[in-house]
Amino acid sequence: MTKARRKVTTSRLQEMKEQDEKIACLTAYDYLMASVLDEAGVDVILVGDSAGTVFAGYDTTIPMTMTQMLYHAAVVSRATERALVVGDLPFMSYQASVEEALRNAGAFIKEALTEAVKLEGGEPICSTVRRIVDAGIPVIGHLGLTPQSIHKFGTYRTRGTSDDEANRILKDAAALQDAGIFSLVLEKIPQDLAKEVTESLHIPTIGIGAGPHCDGQILVSHDMLGLYNKFRPRFVRRYAELGSAMGEAFEAYCLDVKGGRFPGPDESY
Ligand code: KIV
Repeated sequence: MTKARRKVTTSRLQEMKEQDEKIACLTAYDYLMASVLDEAGVDVILVGDSAGTVFAGYDTTIPMTMTQMLYHAAVVSRATERALVVGDLPFMSYQASVEEALRNAGAFIKEALTEAVKLEGGEPICSTVRRIVDAGIPVIGHLGLTPQSIHKFGTYRTRGTSDDEANRILKDAAALQDAGIFSLVLEKIPQDLAKEVTESLHIPTIGIGAGPHCDGQILVSHDMLGLYNKFRPRFVRRYAELGSAMGEAFEAYCLDVKGGRFPGPDESY
């Protein structure tokens, strides 16, 4: 196996942090996107509950269910050979009880064949994290802006901008690491705070809107491909404008059909 195709595992991600090698992560919810990401060399594919907004058209990630997430995750796992596939535990799949959290985390691993799970929150969910990790399931934490708590905060503003919030994030990060997470997503926090968290942990941090000092970066693929326009956070770099390219192709098709130019002789039998 060549180095580029070496399977990404949780220990490989740890090695990457130790060797100062940045970790590239993106999201996928379907077979095609996952195959292209895997082939392109993305290290971690997150089957994010962002599927709720960019795939399913909800206003938030909150309505996503375990059944929907397991379907997306199974499809992505089937498409992926090299990247580490992570299932995102949706809202209320891990908050009600440790037992329910453990079963739902287990379902990602056993039914959808993901290799890890992710959940949002700090100290209050550490006992849940510990239990899932003890069962042999690798866990990624998620601090800063936690979209599943949007109704509690009422805003998607940057988190960790006050001393109190910054200290809370630092404490939560340490507690999650003690509870056994192997990596931590930091969403929409000031870059200096992300740097401090990254330097304080021995596990890799993955930033989204958290500046350049994290050990890796993640974006929602639909955002960076220009497929989703409802929100356009400043932290998203658009690497393509596939939404407009698709629109142009669909319009050209409609014009050709209506103008009798499709199908032509070469496309007919
Ligand atoms: O659901 C998701 O895609 C995420 C990433 C934005 C980190 O949680």
